[in-house]
Amino acid sequence: MKIFITRKIPKAGVDLLLNEGYKIHINQYNRALTKKEIIAGLKNKDGIISLLSDKIDKEIINSNNDLKMISNYAVGYDNIDIDSASINKIPVSNTPDVLTDTTAEMAWALLFSVSRRIVEGDYFTRKGKYKGWDPMLMLGQDISYKTLGIIGTGRIGTSFALKSKGFKMKVLYLDEKKNQTLEKELKAKKVNKNELIKKSDFISIHLPLNKSTFHFIGLKELKEMNKNTILINTSRGSIIDEYALAKALEEKWIFGAGLDVYEKEPEINKKLLKLNNVIIQPHSASATFRTRSNMAIIAAKNMIEGLNGKIPTNCVNKKIFKM
Ligand code: DGY
Repeated sequence: MKIFITRKIPKAGVDLLLNEGYKIHINQYNRALTKKEIIAGLKNKDGIISLLSDKIDKEIINSNNDLKMISNYAVGYDNIDIDSASINKIPVSNTPDVLTDTTAEMAWALLFSVSRRIVEGDYFTRKGKYKGWDPMLMLGQDISYKTLGIIGTGRIGTSFALKSKGFKMKVLYLDEKKNQTLEKELKAKKVNKNELIKKSDFISIHLPLNKSTFHFIGLKELKEMNKNTILINTSRGSIIDEYALAKALEEKWIFGAGLDVYEKEPEINKKLLKLNNVIIQPHSASATFRTRSNMAIIAAKNMIEGLNGKIPTNCVNKKIFKM
């Protein structure tokens, strides 16, 4: 059987597939493929390992009647038209768990960097602007004893929240379900959106992107945040209205933001790029050697299970096996 991989991924996953005897075709360019190129690469293949940046839509899915498995190299799978895959009885899988702590760590890295103006300070110092200790230089925000608001307490949101323990923070969270772990470990309080927005000093978003989470944070919410709030997003760009965020940061409605994701990746709102009070990362929250390698292994294992007619361990449309 033949597999198409839309971009070079760590060797561990590729080796696993080769050892099982699959023929593999990997995108040879050091860039994301266009839709036309994905369709061409997918021709005569039985499976595809896609990236979160590949929009696997109905047209791509329907372009190949032999397609038996879509293994997404990411935990998020909003880039895939799940309905079209399901109509064609094609299992779709993702790579959860292995990137939970790594992604939560990036959210913390952003929180620290924005609070203490790390990137700004580094730039300032390298530019030769540091002329001696100054009581008023680079003042930022404390973290300890502050209120941490978490929007979405699934695996990553929970891991992120638990890491606050040493900072003795008050933890608020927004989720449909009660999070027993956070309530037990941190005495976290489940609150509604309004309360979380108004009372949190730090707000970190850990939601999947879907119709109900699109622009979950917009002008209204940003206006309701307090002036010292720091907003962190490592989930998906479109959960925040990027235009509204740029306005809020420019007009200093909030203290700052730390972003790893954008509405129209790789494009980023031009205004954001000019502001000092936002830290901008290239969607690299899961980018550690170990995690990316583990993601490749999980993506390969899911692919092997799917092509063997089994329900992939991380199948996100399991209902197709009952239809
Ligand atoms: C994912 O895997 O969905 C994350 O966005 C990676 O950072």
